[in-house]
Amino acid sequence: MTRRWMILTVLLMLVLPSVIYGRWIKDKVYLETDSVGKVEFSHYTHMEMESIGKNCPTCHNDVFHIVTKKNPAFTMAQMEEGKSCGFCHNGEEAFSVAEDCTTCHAGDIVFVSEDAGNVNFPHDAHIAMFGCDECHPDLFKPEQGENQATMEEMENGESCGACHDGSTAFGVAEDCESCHAM
Ligand code: HEC
Ligand code: HEC
Ligand code: HEC
Ligand code: HEC
Ligand code: HEC
Ligand code: HEC
Repeated sequence: MTRRWMILTVLLMLVLPSVIYGRWIKDKVYLETDSVGKVEFSHYTHMEMESIGKNCPTCHNDVFHIVTKKNPAFTMAQMEEGKSCGFCHNGEEAFSVAEDCTTCHAGDIVFVSEDAGNVNFPHDAHIAMFGCDECHPDLFKPEQGENQATMEEMENGESCGACHDGSTAFGVAEDCESCHAM
């Protein structure tokens, strides 16, 4: 194919999405970060919204290039200035990138423990008190199930025990029920 035909084909794909969307487009895509893991973006959820519709050029390629490696890694500060997700997530067209961190980044987490039953970790409550970098990536790898620890290790200051020591927060050797539903 000549370059001109390539361009025309791509343009056609971009203006006629309603016919073909859903059959070949990937719903979920993931944006990777170095510090806080990956962020999920859903094509379908966004394109079901009236303000966006099945309209690829709303985002491609001005806000995001479909050749994903052409997209630089944006910081939250750049998003607050309107880049990347911040093009819409500015508190007017959609909830702001300066708030609601866990809507995009991972909500509450469950530690699956065979011995002690599942333990709920309220991400939201902690994010209201701490920056992401207090925990990620050093204390916890930002990936569910990648951070196993015993209570003994916690009592020695690892995992939850880094803060739940009876002074920064209630201690792991005390209030079992605060973390374990018993
Ligand atoms: C609301 C914004 C938005 C709309 C509308 C949108 N996309 Fe995307 N698209 C994204 C984002 C965000 C990514 C991921 C970018 C990244 O990973 O850097 C992406 C990635 C892609 C990719 C690359 C996927 C991959 O894994 O390599 C393709 C192909 C794509 N979109 C096609 C389309 C088509 C076709 C349409 C219209 C039917 C469309 N997109 C509509 C935001 C959008
Ligand atoms: C609309 C979705 C969205 C919201 C809301 C959001 N983020 Fe992000 N965040 C992203 C995406 C997407 C990336 C990855 C961007 C990239 O790699 O280009 C990211 C990257 C990051 C990073 C790594 C880059 C950097 O800036 O250091 C941190 C840390 C972060 N977010 C923290 C937060 C915090 C804290 C909040 C709430 C105040 C928040 N985010 C709200 C989507 C969001
Ligand atoms: C073209 C505008 C646009 C862009 C770009 C955009 N969003 Fe959104 N997004 C919206 C709108 C509009 C809503 C729904 C309104 C609201 O909830 O405030 C929404 C809702 C969401 C929701 C909640 C969905 C749900 O299930 O309720 C998430 C999560 C989200 N966006 C993530 C992202 C991430 C991550 C990015 C960047 C990679 C992004 N969005 C880029 C317009 C956009
Ligand atoms: C008080 C500590 C703490 C803070 C602060 C914190 N996290 Fe987490 N995060 C965790 C723990 C614990 C897990 C679960 C790890 C596991 O399951 O092994 C986790 C998991 C994650 C995951 C993986 C989710 C999954 O489903 O795989 C992501 C992504 C993440 N955090 C992002 C963030 C972002 C972004 C921020 C800041 C807005 C943040 N975290 C703030 C403790 C924290
Ligand atoms: C700050 C929250 C927290 C408190 C408080 C806490 N735990 Fe845990 N506990 C956890 C988490 C999270 C896990 C799962 C760890 C994993 O799977 O990696 C766990 C795992 C366990 C396990 C299985 C691992 C092991 O060490 O054998 C037992 C048993 C346990 N807890 C008992 C207790 C008892 C008894 C108490 C009170 C004296 C207590 N826990 C207090 C968070 C807590
Ligand atoms: C960076 C410090 C830090 C880490 C790490 C941390 N916590 Fe917390 N956590 C706190 C503080 C501070 C509070 C609030 C003070 C208090 O209640 O004593 C809190 C409160 C809680 C609460 C009560 C929340 C509420 O809504 O009242 C639970 C449950 C909890 N943490 C579980 C955990 C578990 C499980 C882990 C490990 C996976 C963990 N925390 C790791 C600092 C931390």
